[in-house]
Amino acid sequence: MSRTVVVTGGAGHVGSHVVEQLVATPDTRVISLDNYFTGRRENHISGAEYRVGHTKDIDELVPETPDLLFHLGEYARIATSFDDVAIVHDFNVTGTFAVAEFCRRRAVKKLVYSASSTKFAIEGDGRHQNPYAFTKAANVDLINDYGRWYDLPYAICYFYNGFGPREMGTGKYATLIARFELQYKSGVPLTVTAPGTQRRTFTYVADLARGIIAAGEKGHGDDYSLRAAKSYSVMQIAEAFGGDIVVEEGYPGRRDVVMVSTSKATNELNWHPTVDIMDYIAQFKREHPR
Ligand SMILES: NC(=O)c1ccc[n+]([C@@H]2O[C@H](COP(=O)([O-])OP(=O)(O)OC[C@H]3O[C@@H](n4cnc5c(N)ncnc54)[C@H](O)[C@@H]3O)[C@@H](O)[C@H]2O)c1
Repeated sequence: MSRTVVVTGGAGHVGSHVVEQLVATPDTRVISLDNYFTGRRENHISGAEYRVGHTKDIDELVPETPDLLFHLGEYARIATSFDDVAIVHDFNVTGTFAVAEFCRRRAVKKLVYSASSTKFAIEGDGRHQNPYAFTKAANVDLINDYGRWYDLPYAICYFYNGFGPREMGTGKYATLIARFELQYKSGVPLTVTAPGTQRRTFTYVADLARGIIAAGEKGHGDDYSLRAAKSYSVMQIAEAFGGDIVVEEGYPGRRDVVMVSTSKATNELNWHPTVDIMDYIAQFKREHPR
């Protein structure tokens, strides 16, 4: 193997696609480090090596010095982050500091970070709307500053809502599209958090993975926005599935998000989204006729 790549969070939704695409790349040894908080063994990809543990222990758990590190292994939910604030801090602040230090001390050739578009919420200051967004924005600052202070090579990608294969549809940490799919298949009403007008830019998970890998190859610095071309309200998405819809009270996640230009990703990485969520839902319904 001519290069070694570490993917934190490699057993998670986006991370498993990053691992899958990297394993298919010639001469690449892929090591995942995941604590299985939301990661799942069923997401494992043949050909990758899986280490179990917290990113704060990365120095011991990964004795190899990788060429590249893709950092996706963080607490990654908005609504539950209020109740889980101590976990969020531990995973995202303590863990990511250890990852940045690992990259600095080992002189990793590039740290590639999966930042969150929650930073760009329209109403108010996005980074302060919930504990999750706070830590993700703080980590963008940290990684930018490691670039300034230590010349650490890095690239920062902003993901918009990922959807697609291996998304988690059940339990406390289920995410929207997979939950709608399961509700649709079970014939129960789709549950929409009020008001339902909140808009999201659902982006195909394999596109996100392709983008962050391209940032690992060719990216430098901040501002690689990876998102689909169109946004939809959560109610529009539910209506596209069809059937009964129940509106429930709850934290609707972040506010609407500014669709930051993807021009840096387009121009420097030649990255383009390939799947619109409405086409994906239409295909899903063809495969699961009522
Ligand atoms: N999917 C999205 O819409 C989206 C949007 C913006 C940013 N992101 C970021 O992308 C990354 C991946 O998100 P995802 O949607 O695949 O979520 P996910 O929950 O499926 O993946 C996160 C993975 O990281 C692992 N993990 C969490 N904390 C860890 C720690 N301290 N040490 C080791 N492993 C840890 C989890 O077990 C899980 O496997 C996250 O950093 C998330 O904040 C995702």
